Amino acid sequence: MRGMTEQAARLAELYGYRYVETPAFEHTELFARTAGESSDVVHKEMYTFEDKSGRSLTLRPEGTAPVVRAYLASQSMLPSPFKGYYLEHMWRYGRPQAGRWREFRQFGLEVIGTADPRADSEVIEVGDRFLSHVGLSDRDLLVNSIGDDVCRPPYRKLLLSYLDSERESLRDEHRDRYPENPMRVLDCRDEACRGVAEDAPKISEHLCDECRRHFDGVLGGLEEAGIAYRKDPRLVRGLDYYTRTAFEWESAALPAAQASVGGGGRYDGLAEILGGAPTPGVGFAIGLDRILFALETERGEVASAPALECFVATVGESADGWARRIAAALRDSGISTDASLERRPLKAQLRMADRVGARFAAIVGEKESAAGTVTLRRLSDGQQRESGLDEAVAWILSQQETPSAGIQEGPG
Ligand code: HAM
Repeated sequence: MRGMTEQAARLAELYGYRYVETPAFEHTELFARTAGESSDVVHKEMYTFEDKSGRSLTLRPEGTAPVVRAYLASQSMLPSPFKGYYLEHMWRYGRPQAGRWREFRQFGLEVIGTADPRADSEVIEVGDRFLSHVGLSDRDLLVNSIGDDVCRPPYRKLLLSYLDSERESLRDEHRDRYPENPMRVLDCRDEACRGVAEDAPKISEHLCDECRRHFDGVLGGLEEAGIAYRKDPRLVRGLDYYTRTAFEWESAALPAAQASVGGGGRYDGLAEILGGAPTPGVGFAIGLDRILFALETERGEVASAPALECFVATVGESADGWARRIAAALRDSGISTDASLERRPLKAQLRMADRVGARFAAIVGEKESAAGTVTLRRLSDGQQRESGLDEAVAWILSQQETPSAGIQEGPG
């Protein structure tokens, strides 16, 4: 997880996004007003409690509303558009199951202050690169436009009258609630609702000219960036604040009901709901726990980055001083180094080096101490060399995996 969050931070910063943090809990109203009373997040999944003054508070179920709230509070000091990223814990109440937990972590990006479709394609590009870097190969990117205040109301009417005629085929939950938010039926994973959604009128065929032009701009940006996508006219996303672009990455390695590893979209009306001036925005959030789960399912296990560069194993009391100097010199050169705190046989120390995931063992005995040398063993293949300290440092540094620039491939 640490390796993955570091990769996310490096990638976001490479694209000019600034790290943002928001409080772990906020007034319930913030989430209830923005995600929508009829959304699953508000309707079923909020972790809500009262504080000693009787105020209703909710553990953060998602990051977009808090980031926009924080942006509106400090807008005058921030660049426009503002580009922020977060790596935070979220909480959603509900029945825990494979791929769905009550506490989980998200990597999210938000671009606030521009309606330009290039912002949409940029956030999708960052998310897509991140999923490639962590090694989630078997995935689909689905995109849609769900219109705006101009084209959505007439479409909604059309959809409502279609659903009225199909009411009996809907799943119980939607049979009673579809008039509140008819578009949610399109997104339902229940077999019965899927059948109804199949023949429902498609928003993509009812977009106004502005929304159509915007959507074409987003798709053009994805094509320029070489990102493969699939248009999905049924994708509407589960939060009410979305306008125009909606997208989701799905992994075949996840259970169907939890197939989404991440998703996002545009939320041009959100700032106004929060009492701010009209301020467009777009972003995504990727569930990090779900990625680990998907990678484990895809590969059976997740490779982790070596925990330690070098373990210093000391043989005999007389070598203690020289071993300590070697450990200090390695650390001064930026090489993570550990040593046994207790006196142990060499074999036990090498076992420990292996357990902590060290890449090298520096063996220091009487002979090395007298000669001012170190015996360095590469633990992956047992290759061993006795040399001066500078040469040993150079060998370890030449084998370091962590790149100083760019992004490391593979999971961490
Ligand atoms: P979301 O689709 O609700 O969007 O969540 C994004 C991702 O968080 C999901 O695709 C999933 O990977 C992960 N996730 C959600 N619930 C759980 C859970 N109970 N257990 C494990 N993982 C979970 C949002 O949160 C929006 N704020 C995204 C966004 C940002 N839209 C615009 N900007």
